[in-house]
Amino acid sequence: EKQGFRHFMLKEIYEQPAVVRTCLATYLNEQWRAADHPSHSPVFLGLDPQLTKNLQHIQILACGTSWHAGLVGKYLLEQLAGIPTTVHYASEFRYAAPPLTPHTLTIGVTQSGETADTLAALEMEKQRRLTLEDDYKPLILGITNRPESTLATMVNEIINTHAGIEIGVAATKTFVAQVLAFYFLALDIAFQRHSLSLEAIEHIMVGLRQLPAQIETILEQQGSAIEALAHEFAETQDFIFLGRGINFPIALEGALKLKEISYIHAEGYPAGEMKHGPIALLDAKVPVVAIAMPGSVHDKVISNAQEAKARDARLIGVTPMDDNQARSVFDDLLLVPHVEEMLSPIVAVIPLQLLAYHIAARRGLDVDQPRNLAKSVTVE
Ligand code: F6R
Repeated sequence: EKQGFRHFMLKEIYEQPAVVRTCLATYLNEQWRAADHPSHSPVFLGLDPQLTKNLQHIQILACGTSWHAGLVGKYLLEQLAGIPTTVHYASEFRYAAPPLTPHTLTIGVTQSGETADTLAALEMEKQRRLTLEDDYKPLILGITNRPESTLATMVNEIINTHAGIEIGVAATKTFVAQVLAFYFLALDIAFQRHSLSLEAIEHIMVGLRQLPAQIETILEQQGSAIEALAHEFAETQDFIFLGRGINFPIALEGALKLKEISYIHAEGYPAGEMKHGPIALLDAKVPVVAIAMPGSVHDKVISNAQEAKARDARLIGVTPMDDNQARSVFDDLLLVPHVEEMLSPIVAVIPLQLLAYHIAARRGLDVDQPRNLAKSVTVE
């Protein structure tokens, strides 16, 4: 059932174009056009309007990779939908929750729907909100790949991420599907609240529809180059991943994928923070992966990467094929199609998944079942 792939993780990485196609077909309204001045939402989430009415704050609770998806979600909900959003590790939130804020939507993100800390944090929040004397009911939204899970019994609404069962312990396709769910949610709220023009909404929808083919391009054209590059890092002990803005969470995710399956120490950092400490770690033995996608922070990431290069670090860039400036700075390239900033996390994460996979496979490790890890963490 690995369908010719050496590991489930690789199969699941290659399933991502199909997963994205399914999510788009399920949630995006194909007929929706800005020029028609539609009065209905561009997405089919079918959420209770109570959920997003008068919303002043969104709080996202999750663990691990789902927490990274939440961080991308924060960026989208703030920048597209205009709602201040906080993201919490569920394991921290449940023991030190911030003071209650009114008109707050709580979102639990868990692909398995069974993560003990996430469920406990959501339950605690639900009970706590019942004591709040505002007209806002304790509404909780779940984002999960398993609508039959325990999560579903605890929340008011579910967004099903439709990624299909994921067997590899390292989350790949479920992460991409969670991030997509946040695009749909942000577009829905942006439409209800008029925080984006209809044209801007349509523009993002057009971009979303191009993602499956763009992911395919990466898998087809970069797969063997990334495998060859990965072989050079079979003995490497430390990696740094840098990103900014919407791709800072992708730097965290690239580092987490690498550490959990290859057992190489890896840290993800917002690129601008490097000079406040981590730069002391750099030398010729520590490769630096920088996510340099087009957009507001592109030049900043390049200059942060150059600072790393000045410390002899080997520089690997995740960057579009047509970015000549970035190409001249990096020693090695993880090339992706040119997409705009708002959509860049989905293409940027793909080569990082492949890099982690091929390094671990080269080391002969049990990629699908890394030591000490379980697919779902049902104990605290
Ligand atoms: C990383 C990974 C874990 C999970 C985390 C949360 O690849 O798989 O970090 O993301 O345990 O799991 P869920 O999403 O099931 O709550």
